[in-house]
Amino acid sequence: MEWGIALVGFGNVAQGLARIITRKKDDLIRRYGFVPVVNAIVTGSKGTIWDPSGLDLEAVLRSLDERGDFSAVSASSASLDRILDDPRIGVVVDTTPTNLVTGEPGLSLIRRAIRSGKHVISSSKGPVSVALPELMALAASHGVAYRFEGALLSGTPSINLAMEAMAGCDVVKVQGIVNGTTNYILSRMEEGLNYSDALTEAQELGYAETDPSGDVDGWDAAVKAQIIATVIMGEPIALSQVKREGISKVSLEDVRSALSRGKRIKLVAQVERKDGVLEASVAPLELPLDHPLAGVMGATNAITYGTDNLRDVTIVGPGAGREETGQAILADLLAIVRERGLNLGRRTA
Ligand SMILES: NC(=O)c1ccc[n+]([C@@H]2O[C@H](COP(=O)([O-])OP(=O)(O)OC[C@H]3O[C@@H](n4cnc5c(N)ncnc54)[C@H](OP(=O)(O)O)[C@@H]3O)[C@@H](O)[C@H]2O)c1
Repeated sequence: MEWGIALVGFGNVAQGLARIITRKKDDLIRRYGFVPVVNAIVTGSKGTIWDPSGLDLEAVLRSLDERGDFSAVSASSASLDRILDDPRIGVVVDTTPTNLVTGEPGLSLIRRAIRSGKHVISSSKGPVSVALPELMALAASHGVAYRFEGALLSGTPSINLAMEAMAGCDVVKVQGIVNGTTNYILSRMEEGLNYSDALTEAQELGYAETDPSGDVDGWDAAVKAQIIATVIMGEPIALSQVKREGISKVSLEDVRSALSRGKRIKLVAQVERKDGVLEASVAPLELPLDHPLAGVMGATNAITYGTDNLRDVTIVGPGAGREETGQAILADLLAIVRERGLNLGRRTA
């Protein structure tokens, strides 16, 4: 019998993962002993496809590109219940859209998958923000992993970096540029665009949504500050505990004035323990030009971890994108393969 993967959601991120897996399949088998077998794909409007012997991902991607659906794929369909009940499925990957208030639809899916004994990987911020302690406890009680690397900085290692690569360090302060849209807008304002022109440009380029409030009012960055506090600093907080100010009041004059004083305005998510009390905030800050985050321009993201054993560690990289976030899921899959001895695609019954 083979272990396989069920992909719930097949938009940007899951297609990015499918492209990486298709391109690097031989390499993944040779280097990691990881045989990536995807048995099921579940979507909101395009239905579900299911193949107990493994879907042909190249055919799936081609069908989507050419027809906009799965009609050219040779596969049957199955209900989500049947997929979750199937012992061949070892991992459920959730890339459904995120709702920061309810955590749905990912939250219910993750609960169901964990209760069915599946490892879960999710790129969705909603479930982490709404129910992380519950989900971690649930996963522990069912002896499965719940990993969500992609929810913080897309594929740029951030959660796994702090929790695994820097094991043994205490992270005492975190500062991050964790929202690419606002960093793009502020970078363009330095080049002379006013706030509304820079926002319009970000929307035209697909960085900002039609309703940009999630980015420019700091909500997205605030959820990431919450994730940092809860996961990396080990102190679960509610989103409402993150002090939040966005960038809509930052003027061209503010940006120019900061530059004339050797500073740069950045929207910074900050989590710090002061006298034993954890403080989390998102606000536009003037950073000196030699600050590790000051040179991070455009849609790029970065995080500086202030630690006891290493002092400051900064990582800079993409904070969004199809294959970039697909890479976060692949890293989580490989971590499960490594840590749990779960040899996806190769388990003998
Ligand atoms: N894109 C990025 O760069 C990025 C970076 C980091 C994190 N994320 C997070 O990753 C998640 C996925 O992002 P994305 O860009 O891939 O989104 P997307 O392109 O909108 O894809 C979402 C997928 O979920 C499906 N879906 C919607 N409701 C569903 C339901 N109830 N059950 C099953 N499937 C459902 C959609 O199907 P239909 O289209 O058929 O409805 C679609 O296939 C989001 O939570 C996002 O916030 C994205």
